Amino acid sequence: MQSLTFLTLSKNGESRAELRDALVGSGRAHLLADCASPEQMLADVARLRPSAAIITVGPDNSEKEFTLIKKLVAASPDIAIITAAHDPAPALILSSMRSGAREFLQLPINSDEFHSVLDRIAELCAAGKTTLHKSGRVIAVFSGKGGTGASFFGTNLAAAMDVPTLLVDLDLQAGDAASFLGLDTKYSIADFAHNRARLDDSLMASLVTPHSSNLAVLAAPLEAHEAEDIKPKDVSEILHLLRQRYERIVLDLPHTFDPVTVAALDLADDILLVLTLDIPGIRSTRRALKIFDRLDYPRRKIHVVVNRWSKGIDVELKKVETHLGEQLIGFVPNDYHKVMNSINLGEPLVQSDPASKVTIEIKRIAALVSGNGHPPTAHPRKRLLGMFGRQTTSSPVDLSKMLEDMA
Ligand SMILES: Nc1ncnc2c1ncn2[C@@H]1O[C@H](COP(=O)(O)OP(=O)(O)O)[C@@H](O)[C@H]1O
Ligand SMILES: [Mg+2]
Repeated sequence: MQSLTFLTLSKNGESRAELRDALVGSGRAHLLADCASPEQMLADVARLRPSAAIITVGPDNSEKEFTLIKKLVAASPDIAIITAAHDPAPALILSSMRSGAREFLQLPINSDEFHSVLDRIAELCAAGKTTLHKSGRVIAVFSGKGGTGASFFGTNLAAAMDVPTLLVDLDLQAGDAASFLGLDTKYSIADFAHNRARLDDSLMASLVTPHSSNLAVLAAPLEAHEAEDIKPKDVSEILHLLRQRYERIVLDLPHTFDPVTVAALDLADDILLVLTLDIPGIRSTRRALKIFDRLDYPRRKIHVVVNRWSKGIDVELKKVETHLGEQLIGFVPNDYHKVMNSINLGEPLVQSDPASKVTIEIKRIAALVSGNGHPPTAHPRKRLLGMFGRQTTSSPVDLSKMLEDMA
């Protein structure tokens, strides 16, 4: 299913947050930007061509908003306008419709009503009456703590894709994904942000660095201080523009929930949450899942992947899954030498060593998330037991027991 894109304009922070939560929580809509003024909305609609715009109106004079709606309809008749208000006064609804709004949404949002509005917008899009962009899949790779191998996994996942893919390094302060691919980059996401207003195909093509036939990278800022100039809104817009040009966008993220990272996670279709099976790893993963819940991300968008897996790890996987409340969908083996060599040589293992077990597992996960986002049909456990033999249960350090104590 193609996803719908939205801009919002709200009079107060509460409705803004409510609209954001409803859009992000729906799992089928992307919030491109919350506009600060009617002027900004006019400019952003022209530039970003969303599927729809939501504008809050009332309770007092809403002439400015109605004027905006008329202008939007005149300038971009293919974009669906939705008005939202706490008070469903007939006069307000009538004025909205007369200005050109297609839908009225009552606040606070009722989830069923919201979904039926989304259904109607999707129908409009399908009927070709409004904009529906080609929209590549955004796959965020995140880990609750550093050193887990998120960057190694993310770069190799990107290199394992068999469709045009862009790896975007959003570890703005310390990103080095380009070096994992052996690339020297001249431009970075900071250049994207500076040139936001005039980004077209040829400029975008010149700011990314090609790697192999299906892979290019958009590097993190070359100087750490440039990171401060990049705002969450820049990242949402840049990703929106990029997903119209690439089939897959893989995001390498830092290990914090800063506003830029949250903006990226909001937009992602899938979040691959990477952990190592040790107490700090499991604990930070549980914390991250709790934050995802608070951010209203549907659990189906989250996939937990174990990195540095080995049969020597003594932990009952079932207990980890129960503790996290999530299935483990992948197990990338630990291979210190191969991984270290690949990073040092700047050659993604999935390309340089197609037969390695690390490659085979990362390719399997790439195929999994490249599907349509449905959960895996076959649980990897069976396959794993075949590969690594049975898990032992008695050992000096009983991780499972420690997990129970933590719960
Ligand atoms: N599957 C693996 N097997 C062995 N070592 C790994 C594996 N994945 C990552 N590493 C090691 O972990 C270290 C941290 O990796 P990195 O991708 O930079 O982590 P993060 O981005 O989570 O901070 C690297 O030095 C790498 O060699
Ligand atoms: Mg990293």
